[in-house]
Amino acid sequence: MIYLDNAATTFPKPAQVSQAVRMSLQKYGANPGRSGHSMSIRAVEEVYKCRAEAAQFFHAQGPEQVIFTLNCTHAVNLVLKGLLKPGDHVVVSCLEHNAVMRPLQKLSEMGVAYTAAKVTPGDNDATLNGFRQALTAKTRLIVCMHASNVWGIRLPVERIASLGREYGVPILVDAAQSAGVLPIDLQDSGIDYLCVAGHKGLYGPMGTGMLIVKNGEELSTLVEGGTGTNSLSYLQPDSLPERFESGTPNMPGISGLRAGIAYVRSLTPEVIFRHENKLIIRLYDHLNGKKRVIIYMPRPDSRYFAPVLSFNVEGAMSEEIGQLLNKNGVAVRAGLHCAPAAHVFCGTEQTGAVRVCPSAFSTNEEMDRFAAILHKIIRK
Ligand code: ALA
Repeated sequence: MIYLDNAATTFPKPAQVSQAVRMSLQKYGANPGRSGHSMSIRAVEEVYKCRAEAAQFFHAQGPEQVIFTLNCTHAVNLVLKGLLKPGDHVVVSCLEHNAVMRPLQKLSEMGVAYTAAKVTPGDNDATLNGFRQALTAKTRLIVCMHASNVWGIRLPVERIASLGREYGVPILVDAAQSAGVLPIDLQDSGIDYLCVAGHKGLYGPMGTGMLIVKNGEELSTLVEGGTGTNSLSYLQPDSLPERFESGTPNMPGISGLRAGIAYVRSLTPEVIFRHENKLIIRLYDHLNGKKRVIIYMPRPDSRYFAPVLSFNVEGAMSEEIGQLLNKNGVAVRAGLHCAPAAHVFCGTEQTGAVRVCPSAFSTNEEMDRFAAILHKIIRK
């Protein structure tokens, strides 16, 4: 199979990740922080090592700023629902995923309003201006994806964070598609809340994500429960990360995530980005200008695009092309990618689009074969 659905989850995972998951189950499969025996203590150490690995990777202040979540959606929900109050206003980009739009829609029922800022691909000044225009005196938060999961459009999150600081508004960055591929530095970037998927560009197992915070104490909790600390009290602890980590964690997932981050760190996101970007440009050149192929974005300029390419075939629904590709041994995601706003942006909300996303394991040959298979489908 040619697997090009890495924006949904990366596959394959590095061998080290599978090994780490197995080790976790076999060697330190006790509940971390709940019991005083040696295997439980080893499990605590393992969780701490992953936190430290992530903190170092994203230049967070310390391991305690790293909160493990189920996925990126969970991390986004923790911030939106933990921070926003009736009367608050939020600025989002006009490309956001339903991980942001659905919780905001829910919050709008209790009086939280939002405005979608216009994004201009290839013109960061114009995008920044779109955000500036959307701010109001009641804006409590800016929410912005780092890279579109549909079109690969990169948003200038560092500049948007500076804009937020100018107006005293914190920023949540949804890095589901960018973590591990684009540089993210919490010290320099001004990001207040970083929401990350563990199973995409960080190559961890599914069921892993992280919320990395500058200052998490101001968030109220969505879930309360046992943390293994201060157990005599019925009050949820205030300190991070346990304030947001009640219940038994995904120990094998966390071990796998640790190995995934170490893998990305050893290659470096810069090298992974260059590799994937080269592949996407190769594919773009195979498809661009070909009969019946509709591409919505310009030839990817690495300053403005992450390595994701979505297209359509004239006269066909994207799912139809996705199914035909599947029959020919190619895995892609067609449809709306849980991001209707991004599809409205390009007028593809009725057809959806066929999305291709390579990983560190993808090859030139796979891009060439993909293009040949697609052209064969189109000819038929
Ligand atoms: N958000 C993921 C995607 O874009 C699952 O496919």
